Amino acid sequence: RPQWRGIIEEYRDRLPVDADTTPVTLREGGTPLVPAQVLSELTGCDVHLKVEGANPTGSFKDRGMTMAITKAKENGAQAVICASTGNTSASAAAYAVRAGMVCAVLVPQGKIALGKMGQALVHGAEILQVEGNFDDCLTLARGLSEKYPVALVNSVNPARIEGQKTAAFEIVDMLGDAPDIHVLPVGNAGNITAYWKGYREYSRPTPSTAPGGGELPAVATRTPRMWGFQASGAAPIVRGEPVKEPTTLATAIRIGNPASWTTAERAREESGGLIDSVTDRQILRAYKLLASREGVFVEPASAASVAGLLQAAEQGRVEPGSRIVCTVTGNGLKDPDWAVAGAPQPVTVPVDADAAAARLGLV
Ligand code: F0G
Repeated sequence: RPQWRGIIEEYRDRLPVDADTTPVTLREGGTPLVPAQVLSELTGCDVHLKVEGANPTGSFKDRGMTMAITKAKENGAQAVICASTGNTSASAAAYAVRAGMVCAVLVPQGKIALGKMGQALVHGAEILQVEGNFDDCLTLARGLSEKYPVALVNSVNPARIEGQKTAAFEIVDMLGDAPDIHVLPVGNAGNITAYWKGYREYSRPTPSTAPGGGELPAVATRTPRMWGFQASGAAPIVRGEPVKEPTTLATAIRIGNPASWTTAERAREESGGLIDSVTDRQILRAYKLLASREGVFVEPASAASVAGLLQAAEQGRVEPGSRIVCTVTGNGLKDPDWAVAGAPQPVTVPVDADAAAARLGLV
C-alpha cells in the first residue's frame, strides 16, 4: 500500500500550486480521526478527535507550513521568518531545513513550552526571544519581512490557510460528510478560518473551481457549525476588543489581538456557530480527561476545544445525537510540565519481584 504523500500531493487539485510544483514536505496530514468514547457518552453525541499532534513536528502547523515553504522556495526566498507561541516556529524550522533555507523565529520570552523551544533549536533556527508577547512578536516579524528579504510564514500568509484547510477535507473524506459541529481552540484565529474555507470548498452549496480553473466535485452535502474557544484570559474575540496582557497556562493560545479576527467572525456568522471562552481550570480538566480516559495526550491549548464542548453540553447547547469533531491541535509531549505537575511521585523499588508486587497491590 503506498504511503500518504503529504497534503499537497493528496489534494493538489484543490490547492493553489502549479502542476510542476515540487512540494517541500515531511508527509504531513493524514492524521487519525479517533472516536472519543467517553466524550460521546458524556455529551450523548458521536464525538471524534482529529489528532493533529500526529503531524511530523507534532502540530497542525505542518499543513500550512508545507504550503508556505513550498511557495517561498518557488519564489526564490532564501530565508523565512515567523512570530510564534512555539508550534509555528517548530514547524517553520523543520520545513526550512527540508528546503535548505534559513529560518528566523521571534518568540515571547519565557512563554513558550520547552519542547517547542527544543525543536527550533535542534533544527538550527535563529531564535530571538522578544521582551513582549506574541502580538508584539508578530508586529516585529511583519515589519522585518517588509523591510528585509525574508518571507513571512505566519498565517497572515495566505498559503498557510490553504494548507490548513486540508484538515477539513480529510474529515469529510473519513466520515463521508461534514459533521454537524466542528470545535477547535482559537488563538491567532488562522485555523478556524482555514477549516471553514475547507468545509465550504468541499461542500455542495459552494461549487468549487480548482485554483487553476475547472469544476471540482462536491464531496460533502453540507457544512458544519464552527465552534471556537479562546482561553478566558486571552479572549479578545469574545470580549470584542484586543487584550493587552493576555494570560493563560495554554501558552500556544496566549494571544490578545488575533491576525485573522475578522475571518474567524465570518466563519462563526456564516456557519451559525459560536466563539466563546473557557477558563484555565476547564482547560486542565479537559486535558486530564483526554489523557486519562481517552488515551489521547495533547498540549493544554488543544484541550480548549474539548473544554468548550463539555461547557456547551452542560449549558444544554448540544443537541443529543449530533456528530461532532474536535480538533486537538498539538502533541502533549511538547509541554509535559502539565502532565507532571501535581501528579504523585513514582515510587522507587529494589530489583525484587516481591517488593514490586507488594507496591502494585498484587499481593
Ligand atoms: N493550538 C495550538 C497547539 C497552537 O499552537 C495554536 C496556535 C492554536 C491552537 C491556535 O490556532 O492561532 O490558528 O487560532 N499557535 C500559533 C503558534 C500562534 O505560533 O504556534 P490559531
